[in-house]
Amino acid sequence: MKGLKPLTAVDLFCGCGGVTEGLKAGGFQVVAAVDNDPVACKTYKMNHPSVHLYEQDIHDVDPKDILANLKGEKLDLLVVCAPCQPFSSQNRKKGRDSRSNLIMQSVRFAEILNPTIIFFENVPGLATKRFRGILEELKDGLNRLGYNLGEPVQINAADYGVPQRRIRCVLIASKSKIPTIPEPVTPAGKWKTVRDAIAHLPPLQAGQKDPTDPLHFARSHSPIAIKRLQHIPKDGGSRFSLPPELELKCHKNKKGYPDVYGRMKWDDVAPTLTTGCTDITRGRFAHPRDDRAITLREAALLQTFPVNYKFAGNSSQIAAQIGNAVPVKMVEAIAINLHKFIEGAG
Ligand SMILES: C[S@@+](CC[C@H](N)C(=O)[O-])C[C@H]1O[C@@H](n2cnc3c(N)ncnc32)[C@H](O)[C@@H]1O
Repeated sequence: MKGLKPLTAVDLFCGCGGVTEGLKAGGFQVVAAVDNDPVACKTYKMNHPSVHLYEQDIHDVDPKDILANLKGEKLDLLVVCAPCQPFSSQNRKKGRDSRSNLIMQSVRFAEILNPTIIFFENVPGLATKRFRGILEELKDGLNRLGYNLGEPVQINAADYGVPQRRIRCVLIASKSKIPTIPEPVTPAGKWKTVRDAIAHLPPLQAGQKDPTDPLHFARSHSPIAIKRLQHIPKDGGSRFSLPPELELKCHKNKKGYPDVYGRMKWDDVAPTLTTGCTDITRGRFAHPRDDRAITLREAALLQTFPVNYKFAGNSSQIAAQIGNAVPVKMVEAIAINLHKFIEGAG
């Protein structure tokens, strides 16, 4: 952010770098990041070459090495976006999913790095009764280090300049006063829409490519899938408009999975993008007008990645990185607020 002294940040579970991109825009210098996915790390390195990236399982990273990267400077912000899958409503595993322990790694890093603020982002499931034990454990671990963990707050990315309904659970820890989550930048009524984000892109039919943009290519669909798409009303239609002969067998007389084969709506926000965000069988991921799934470019724009952000990997690996990312604009809005708070406190 122009005119502001950059504050230091460390990005744990950095993935392809959605958080880092937003932190940079919000006035932070990201000193180090950790992730163990080789393809996401490749993307991260292409876009953030000056950040010291630890491409390792987090359990194997020694926080003292990260401390050395700070060269004696205080760490202002530790961001922890541990995998969401263990806390997702889709996770039907009984008992504790071993991945749910990853969030506890933050305590080991906080002990050595002593950040002013710790920011956690996850799915709303983290704050439900089922995972109360984990939150309590996190709170106890941080309390032992002198941190207070604020209550979980649910926010919608759409309120922070993101053309997408994406409800997230965020928590902030601090050794003194806990900063609040910023007021919506784009409250309901001012939400950015699918039209704002992607209407300027050239129309494509299934299987077509935009020769000027390698991420704007429409995947092919089977002839029956195309037929179904042709029957889904433009601009927000759903599978419930399909004639009986085109209905999927598993959907006959069933109300479930209402978004499968659904189209996005031009003047609304997009639904939550997931790792399957370019697959019409995995959600409301069909284009509002064209008979096809959205392209990777459209998905990246709906997650507010800048157009010059580079992605490594094949199509499904890129879709997974985009779907897993924290939307850049949402992070930027929170980062600006945290920056003001830390500067004011210091
Ligand atoms: C929700 S995604 C992070 C998204 C990222 N913060 C962004 O904004 O683009 C969670 C990340 O945790 C990483 N991860 C999962 N298990 C890990 C482990 N044991 N060690 C390090 N990283 C891990 C995954 O590779 C994935 O990139």
